[in-house]
Amino acid sequence: MSVSTRSKKIGILTSGGDCPGLNGVIRAVVKCATQRGWEVYGIPYGTQGLINLEQGNCDRQDLRLQEHGFDIPGLLRGVDILQFLSGSILGALNSGSPDDFASADEILKGYRHLGLDALIALGGDGSLSILNDLAEKGGWNWVAIPKTIDNDVPFTECSLGFDTAVNTVTRALYDLTFTAASHNRIIVVQVMGRDAGHLALQSGIAGGADVILIPELTPKLNDRVLHGICQQIVQLRQRDRQFALVVVAEGVRNQADGKEKYIGDTLAKQIQTYGQRLCETGQPQFCHLKHLETRATTLGHIQRSGVPSSSDRRLAAAFGCKAVELIAAEKYQQLVIWSQGRVDSKPLGTVMPMIKERHRTHLCPNPVELDSLWVQTARDLGIYVGDFVLATSPVYG
Ligand code: F6P
Repeated sequence: MSVSTRSKKIGILTSGGDCPGLNGVIRAVVKCATQRGWEVYGIPYGTQGLINLEQGNCDRQDLRLQEHGFDIPGLLRGVDILQFLSGSILGALNSGSPDDFASADEILKGYRHLGLDALIALGGDGSLSILNDLAEKGGWNWVAIPKTIDNDVPFTECSLGFDTAVNTVTRALYDLTFTAASHNRIIVVQVMGRDAGHLALQSGIAGGADVILIPELTPKLNDRVLHGICQQIVQLRQRDRQFALVVVAEGVRNQADGKEKYIGDTLAKQIQTYGQRLCETGQPQFCHLKHLETRATTLGHIQRSGVPSSSDRRLAAAFGCKAVELIAAEKYQQLVIWSQGRVDSKPLGTVMPMIKERHRTHLCPNPVELDSLWVQTARDLGIYVGDFVLATSPVYG
């Protein structure tokens, strides 16, 4: 890659929901860019920061990020803590397209006001798509970095934040195992993943789940799924396991094909009712399902926080440095990706049409592949993941 030696002024922003590792990227970008003698400006609250700038509500110089900007008192001064912190020091907004809160024009003016050579933006499929439209309109040079605990950005094997979230859910499953076992309960654990089941599937395997329901394999709850779960409970009891952990991704729909905020609660109640129904058939193998005790736990936003895992810290460092390297080479309009053990990039001109087409047709841009290693592994371990294979991906929305 040929590298321009001219000093640059770059901006960085975090958009969409937060996730562990964002600060690690900011740190890496500041370190790499500062070593090159560049200036880095941190734009607060994503595109809202550009509006504030345009409206004179903040000063350009206040946005300047320096390597030594994160002071801790006493003997700990100088400790470089940024990569250990979740959230985003720049803040993030999750409120939809710019038309919802201000005109795109103001954002574009704010961007010009900063006089940047290029922008680095961290986002998921939704926010990157919005930013891409703005960049096309405003003629921005930019580099995108994928971040989401849902891991559903296409063309990258992993997105920032995913690994930490998998660890968080895995730990929660461990903790829930012992209370479930003590009370012989069926504990349903609702895990994030708006349209994709990567988080539920991988943490379910790592956390010893007995059932994992993801939208790709179980688009909606129905009697067939409840029957499969009850069968699984029967088989576990035959093997002397009196409790069960059921992981459900929030993207799984209810019987009426609707999205529910607390689908885990619904599922817990339905397992109980379906168990009673099976018991009433009089078949001996179902007789102990009469008094199933179920409980639901929704893990919620705890999955978006926590100390970034070592893997996410390394990914943050690699992604941040790669973004700076791309800008140094004036290779813009790129998505930084992780592929086959290395950091790489993919032209947004290839990535965005695919994401947009998927959004247009209400399909997840990067679903769990039905023949993936993890689906197969779950099945091989005897985890119930639904017993049908779909010809096409489920539709969301
Ligand atoms: O896309 C990431 C995600 O964490 C989803 O898994 C979840 O549905 C959503 O964000 C929650 O968003 P909010 O922060 O707006 O509640």
